[in-house]
Amino acid sequence: MITLLSSPSQIVTVSTSGRNFKRGPEMQEVNVLEGCSLVLEDDIIKDIVPSSKIKPGSFQNIISLEGKVILPGLIDCHTHLAFAGSRADEFRQKLSGVSYEEIARSGGGIARTVNAVRNAGFEELVKIARPRIEYAITQGITTLEIKSGYGLSTEDEIKLLRVINHLNTLYEIDIVPTFLGAHSFPAEYRSDKEGYLRLINEKMLPEVAEHRLAKFCDAFLEKTAFSKEEVEVIFRKARDLGLSIKLHSEQFNAMGGVDLAIKYNATSLDHLEVIKETDIEKISATETVCVLLPGVSFFLDYGFAPARSLISKGAIVSISTDYNPGSSHIANLNLVMSLAAIKMKMTIEEVISAVTINAAKALALSQETGSIEPGKKADLAVFDTTEYSDIVYQVGKNLNVMTIKNGRVIYTRNQPNFKEGLSL
Ligand code: NIG
Ligand code: FE
Repeated sequence: MITLLSSPSQIVTVSTSGRNFKRGPEMQEVNVLEGCSLVLEDDIIKDIVPSSKIKPGSFQNIISLEGKVILPGLIDCHTHLAFAGSRADEFRQKLSGVSYEEIARSGGGIARTVNAVRNAGFEELVKIARPRIEYAITQGITTLEIKSGYGLSTEDEIKLLRVINHLNTLYEIDIVPTFLGAHSFPAEYRSDKEGYLRLINEKMLPEVAEHRLAKFCDAFLEKTAFSKEEVEVIFRKARDLGLSIKLHSEQFNAMGGVDLAIKYNATSLDHLEVIKETDIEKISATETVCVLLPGVSFFLDYGFAPARSLISKGAIVSISTDYNPGSSHIANLNLVMSLAAIKMKMTIEEVISAVTINAAKALALSQETGSIEPGKKADLAVFDTTEYSDIVYQVGKNLNVMTIKNGRVIYTRNQPNFKEGLSL
């Protein structure tokens, strides 16, 4: 079917002329077209044409988007949204001055969510996650990554990955599963760390790989979590099994995560709140995407990652919500985009590149999505404004009115059309 998305005020293509990522100063160039319409053929972007030259007879489907802005579908490339339970009590502790790391050391934090996830069945976890996915879709998100890491036993990590894979079948959007068995040492292995590493390498990873339950293997490199040596043991195995690598690092302490990410050719290196200046230069020379998470700095009230320095050195920078119950209980990508602008001094254009083409690159999907270019998937977000700056300027307000995935309108405000009904 040939569809015409007719006469929007602006199309922000974020095109890269086939390179499929934007590095440093290139992030500023988002390519804003006025007076143009978009032609889709089935699930693919076919053409961008001047609105004045359109012959309406040649389209089977015409959607009028006058007064609207079209962007590539947004991509939230780092979330932990398949969690159960609440940590509102820890939020109260944090508000009274107890730190995230102190809470983790005293047995709270990730361990609390692990208990809740272990006690929840498959169906319950699916039910909890669904409104979160649907909220993402209403924001114009067409690709979403979700990590495991709250099971920390073979059975529960596999259960969580099966939940994430099942969610992918329930919705048209792409949900990318990441294995994060190395999120935290579970209580029963705290005095047998080698035993837990063996469990990951001999049981969890082989099962994940055999059943293709995850695209990426991630790990949390931090004083309260895994050491560099421990992460390496896992990354070697993951690489041998054909998984691609992601890494949480340089969040609270400089841990040498940049060298590790480079050594294992990581697809992305995430957090980087305390990255050292010399490491900025190193990572900027690679194709590893730096995924910055300003929601975490805001939620935990500490320093933001040095986005300006990374961009000026030529890094490929993305941003994401890190939606999770402990360090960023923020599901609103729009708010995170505005935080990136206000607190990390990213320009509106850099923010848009960060949540589209560079976020696609952080999921190794930028050949197929993340920009509006002929031949790419018709993954699009339509915003109720005539000028794209509004999307970042209107802080925390959802201006998305239509989400298109694989050429299908999967959400319009006031007229939701999810595959299996809307539970919002
Ligand atoms: O990305 N850094 C480690 N993991 C998450 C937090 C998970 C949690 O507290 O539940 C993060 O910030
Ligand atoms: Fe995270």
